[in-house]
Amino acid sequence: MRRVRAEILNTRKLGAYHSLTLVAPEIAERARPGQFVSVAMPADRRFVLRRHFSIHQASRRGGWAGTLEFVFDPRGPGTDWLAESKAHQFLDVIGPLGKAFAYPRRLGNCLLVSEEHGSAPIYFLAQELRARGKRVDLIVGASSEDHVFNPIEAKRLSQQIAIVTADGSLGERGRVEDVLVGMLDATGAEVVYAAGSRRMLRAVAELCIERRLPAQVAVEEQMACGLGICQTCVIPVIRKDGSGYDNLRVCADGPVFNPARIFWDRWMGDEPRTLSTPPEGFPVVSAWPR
Ligand SMILES: Cc1cc2nc3c(=O)[nH]c(=O)nc-3n(C[C@H](O)[C@H](O)[C@H](O)COP(=O)(O)OP(=O)(O)OC[C@H]3O[C@@H](n4cnc5c(N)ncnc54)[C@H](O)[C@@H]3O)c2cc1C
Ligand code: FES
Repeated sequence: MRRVRAEILNTRKLGAYHSLTLVAPEIAERARPGQFVSVAMPADRRFVLRRHFSIHQASRRGGWAGTLEFVFDPRGPGTDWLAESKAHQFLDVIGPLGKAFAYPRRLGNCLLVSEEHGSAPIYFLAQELRARGKRVDLIVGASSEDHVFNPIEAKRLSQQIAIVTADGSLGERGRVEDVLVGMLDATGAEVVYAAGSRRMLRAVAELCIERRLPAQVAVEEQMACGLGICQTCVIPVIRKDGSGYDNLRVCADGPVFNPARIFWDRWMGDEPRTLSTPPEGFPVVSAWPR
């Protein structure tokens, strides 16, 4: 992990999203899909904490070597401020942070599922999986067409794709969950990856448990330090032996987790169970495939 003063090389708009490309070779060289960066905000009482963004691209080769890109939809003081930034300004950035997605060695058919800005790390992952000779199929969901992140890039990256919007303005009308079973069957998926809302990730988890499919999801939780120190970002994760759960830090132990081991009832605020009563059916998904 490195802290750098990174120059903004380029800004661009993609539908509802803003993208910033930074010159940060120290971070780009080490960055892997699923990891994120922590960006300092101006010295102003409105901000206090740094903001965190998944790494969307990290170029290690070619003319763009040493650059990294992240994307966001402006929705609060931090993202509104970033949306005003211009090329050649500098940002104080720490990264790459967190644990990345793992790649399957043997299995070849990968279904990648994303919603809204969750598509940013998922497309980076798609690119890396394809470079390793894996088949990549995508489900991309959003509230409306302008929130479908870079659909042209999604089509380029995937063999088969399903786009779903809540208002039906692009692709099918509905939610990602509505097309999940159909896409699993149509693509012969052997491994599932996902990033998006907790609701969607839970649906992915339940289906993968039912079908005994290995899966990995990138989750988000409110973060303060982003460095594993403050415990703000913990989520309940069931122990491997099913004897209870531990509160693990999304910033340091995640953000990528096996969704079969997330204690969804507790994390999503449903009726809490006691430590001595592990949720039924856990853990059932085997270790990450070798
Ligand atoms: C590991 C990680 C990766 C992320 N990657 C991206 C990304 O690629 N693109 C992107 O746009 N955003 C991403 N986020 C979310 C982003 O960091 C937060 O939404 C951030 O707080 C935005 O700052 P703000 O000042 O604009 O809005 P804020 O005022 O901080 O928040 C706006 C709204 O979002 C809610 N919120 C804040 N943080 C989170 C969170 N972590 N999870 C869920 N809701 C939250 C707040 O409660 C509020 O309703 C990521 C968060 C994490 C933890
Ligand atoms: S945000 Fe401080 S430990 Fe994760």
